[in-house]
Amino acid sequence: MWLDAGRGDSPGGGWVVIPARLTRVPLCAGVAWICLTLAVAAMRAAPQAPGGAEGWQIPKGAEAEANPVPPNADVLAKGMSLYRAKCQRCHGADGKGHGPEGDPGHPPADLTDGSRAFLNPDGVMFYKIWNGRAKPKMPAMKSEIAPADVWTVIHYVKTLRKMRATTPLLPQPRVPDPSPSVCDRTAGEECVR
Ligand code: HEC
Repeated sequence: MWLDAGRGDSPGGGWVVIPARLTRVPLCAGVAWICLTLAVAAMRAAPQAPGGAEGWQIPKGAEAEANPVPPNADVLAKGMSLYRAKCQRCHGADGKGHGPEGDPGHPPADLTDGSRAFLNPDGVMFYKIWNGRAKPKMPAMKSEIAPADVWTVIHYVKTLRKMRATTPLLPQPRVPDPSPSVCDRTAGEECVR
């Protein structure tokens, strides 16, 4: 009938014992140094860590560089034609990376992936496009188009992102599309202009 609350084996009476080993600072420092060295070596060896900047040449402070080209309908239309001329063959008409010249083993980035927006502020995207990369290969656009065109195409590329509150400037991203090929009739979009 009565609860037996008085068991002597209840937990909670233990002390955490800090061993005197903590005083061996030189040993700890040595181990930490080895770990750090190994970690750095592992990072160097890791090929194309996802989300990393390996292969890109992006100067310090690039993320703070503002896009000097103000976006408007004309800029977006120009960005679209630049995209078609210079980027679509790899990144695909929809930006998902299935263009005919993309390498299926190393597909061109999915430009519609809104979750990568934070990795690609305009200034960073500028240098990715301007300098390109060796592997997987993206040609450096500095030998093909002017800097202002790069900033312009960036505005268009951002409209390809799946809306996730990442492009506040452009609530309705599609610009009138003269080519039916990139136009999604099933979504009820305007296809012919
Ligand atoms: C020859 C094919 C090719 C062409 C042409 C090309 N790209 Fe790329 N692009 C790639 C590859 C490959 C990657 C890197 C994929 C990776 O990081 O694994 C890439 C990555 C990118 C990225 C980085 C995306 C991210 O989330 O890190 C951007 C932005 C980009 N391209 C924009 C463009 C634009 C804009 C153009 C046209 C001016 C263009 N690309 C032309 C192949 C191409």
